[in-house]
Amino acid sequence: MKDMAGPTIYLSDYAPPAYLVDEVHLTFRLAPEATRVLSRVRFRPNPEATDKTFFLHGEQLTLISAAIDGQPVTPEVSDTGLTCAVPDAPFTWEAEVEIAPARNFALEGLYMSNGMYCTQCEAEGFRKITYYPDRPDVMATFTVRIEGEEPVKLSNGNPGASDEGFAEWHDPWPKPAYLFALVAGDLVNHPDRFTTASGKDVELNIWVRPGDESKCAFGMEALKKSMTWDEEVYGREYDLDIFNIVAVDDFNMGAMENKGLNIFNSSCVLASPETSTDGNFERIEAIIAHEYFHNWTGNRITCRDWFQLCLKEGLTVYRDSQFTADMRSAPVKRISDVITLRARQFREDNGPLAHNVRPESFQEINNFYTATVYEKGAEVIGMLKELVGDEAYDKALDLYFTRHDGQACTIEDWLTVFEETTGRDLSQFKRWYSQAGTPRLKVREAWEDGTYTLHFSQMTPPTPGQPEKLPQVLPIAVGLLGPNGDEVQETTLLEMTEAEQSFTFPGLAAKPVPSILRGFSAPVILERETTNAERAFLLAHDTDPFNKWEAGRMLAKDGLIRMITDGAAPDAAYLGALQATLADDSLDPAFRALVLALPSEEDLAQTLFDAGVTPDPEAIHTARERLLEAMAAELEPLLTRLYHDHQVPGAYSPDAGPSAARALANGALALLSRRDGGALAAQQYAGADNMTQQLAALTCLLIAGKGTSEVQAFYDQWQADRLVIDKWFALQIAYAAPAKAAAVTEALTQHPDFTMKNPNRFRATLGALAGNPAGFHANDGAGYRLLADWLIQLDPLNPQTTARMCSAFETWKRYDADRQDLIRAELERIAAQPGLSRDTSEMVGRILAA
Ligand code: BES
Ligand code: ZN
Repeated sequence: MKDMAGPTIYLSDYAPPAYLVDEVHLTFRLAPEATRVLSRVRFRPNPEATDKTFFLHGEQLTLISAAIDGQPVTPEVSDTGLTCAVPDAPFTWEAEVEIAPARNFALEGLYMSNGMYCTQCEAEGFRKITYYPDRPDVMATFTVRIEGEEPVKLSNGNPGASDEGFAEWHDPWPKPAYLFALVAGDLVNHPDRFTTASGKDVELNIWVRPGDESKCAFGMEALKKSMTWDEEVYGREYDLDIFNIVAVDDFNMGAMENKGLNIFNSSCVLASPETSTDGNFERIEAIIAHEYFHNWTGNRITCRDWFQLCLKEGLTVYRDSQFTADMRSAPVKRISDVITLRARQFREDNGPLAHNVRPESFQEINNFYTATVYEKGAEVIGMLKELVGDEAYDKALDLYFTRHDGQACTIEDWLTVFEETTGRDLSQFKRWYSQAGTPRLKVREAWEDGTYTLHFSQMTPPTPGQPEKLPQVLPIAVGLLGPNGDEVQETTLLEMTEAEQSFTFPGLAAKPVPSILRGFSAPVILERETTNAERAFLLAHDTDPFNKWEAGRMLAKDGLIRMITDGAAPDAAYLGALQATLADDSLDPAFRALVLALPSEEDLAQTLFDAGVTPDPEAIHTARERLLEAMAAELEPLLTRLYHDHQVPGAYSPDAGPSAARALANGALALLSRRDGGALAAQQYAGADNMTQQLAALTCLLIAGKGTSEVQAFYDQWQADRLVIDKWFALQIAYAAPAKAAAVTEALTQHPDFTMKNPNRFRATLGALAGNPAGFHANDGAGYRLLADWLIQLDPLNPQTTARMCSAFETWKRYDADRQDLIRAELERIAAQPGLSRDTSEMVGRILAA
């Protein structure tokens, strides 16, 4: 079944719903091919509505019967919903529909995954379950009855009556339909309990397929930590008697915050030392926190319409990053977040898919769960907090929660609580929500008579549909260092509001070295003429961990860019500064691991393009490899020491300390493997008792062109574990030599364990190809062709995952004419597919319009 191309929806067309809902009763009679859904909905006319048309969304439903106040009616049914004549007073709507969860491969609505029923309703999937006003500003209490033989039957809220053949649930908190969830199947639970600050006893469960019970303990601890943290930091308690998490194998996203019944991609909740890496553990902790935090920022206070998505997602990403910073290392979390922001959001913001943090139009809302809405949305909240201060932020949030509890809100509501608590005018700040593109911040300096001056200018390049940009409010955190490395001006926040603005620092004994944009205080591209000597100085002396790291990164980048564009030799000054930093045992090993990691090939391509140079993916890859060889040769004794000093004895722990040690040791191992042909890696592989060590060693072997027997051994060891086999697929492609990447990928799509029906497996294969830039962009176009072939095959089954993966092509205008021609041909081939989904046609259309 295929979706049709749809109309464009505009924020400016928002109109309140014609009818409001007080109560919903749903009964599910489960059957894979023919589930019956009976609904009873109490409607009343909305006094605030102008249009009185009664319209219920509904897609891919078979209507069996409908009645109003007990009287059968015959609604007018279309592809998108139904209309019907209704009384001009409160009334009860009843309907029975039939759906086929076993034939739902889009993984939206009610579907089956490994014999288990589950739902995904955000954003507009409830309309595939029954006829309903499927919009977030219609909030109601839900009572659900599930009939079926499955031993476990779950829905939102608190449990009611149950017996073998049925289970009832009641959710007392009014919610929009997108937060509805149902799960039924043969599941086992990992139980626990939590007592809230006010003494409420809550039952906690993580539900998994039999066999996965042993992988729940870490997620459960993360959940309890999240519950405590939200009480302590935001004063928010949990509000039901039970909180359930379910792991499912087939899921388009990472996880979903359904009220009281969070549903997780199994890759984002199941954890064990043998099968999960340190990175997996950290991600699981963060995503459990994220979905839990939505209980207040998203569920108790929801969005008026989908244009306001950043209201819940930007804020909740901001909250989960605060949580991770508190649980682990704050500087390391900030640096990692900026690395992903630049890789994903800057890439998006500087290409054809650039859009506002609050978009103003869409065809398919699923295409707007983007790095911009999420990550830039979180940056905007971080800036707001910087500008008003921590105390005012807490006050504004308290007001937000009390004033808007139970409501569906807008960005205006959000900003108003800040304006009222601080007395600040945020109208210019609001441009962060309505102007796309990454601002370029240029800075010049002047030094005269003991006064140091920073002259700033800001400019945002045009983005699709937005040729002109206005100056934004930029919080610029600055510190100054004296010639001996001491800080002569501690961090101070400059507020830039004009296109050009200067700030002076009088009374200084000597010309300082500036540390600008400390903590990456605004999501901008900083442009400043500086020297590598100054970068090395900041890498050695800056007290701000972010800028200390940034100085090292700029040094690495500068050298790499010269290697790529002029064929320069590896920069000796960089290698010296790197050596000094890595050898400093007073620095957190996790920080040193970040300093050791070079900018990615994607980052370099972006930087070159921004500087007006057409990136050559192969040249970038080769230069980066050359620098890695030089690092290995130059630093070998130090790397050997770091490797041995950071071996973690005893039982595996995913905590920040041991993870940091492993990150540094494995960073060293990667370079050492370039010296010893993989001997040490082979030894680590053979002795590894956890996935972090095993996978790191296997990666080194693959890069060294070895590891054939280990790849087979890894498969034999883990073939029964889907999540580990995903890693097996991804690894072989991500580290394939560029010329072979497409062929390796194609061969793996022929492997008996490959299936396009499982999004994790599809991403582990085709997504890994897109993540190997030199391989994906190989100039014969084989990578482009293979990805397009598979996107065309997947689209009829799973439009959402297909559309998301089209972003592999979003950077096409960066490249040379030959590559552009090859990519355009593939995009046009996708666009020409008959019956292409609305999701994919919107994405391909926007990318092609570049
Ligand atoms: N609400 C989203 C899940 C979602 C996204 C549902 C798009 C439907 C369409 C959830 O809260 C979320 O944001 N999940 C993220 C992970 C999070 C840690 C940023 C995800 O799934 O990637
Ligand atoms: Zn979210």
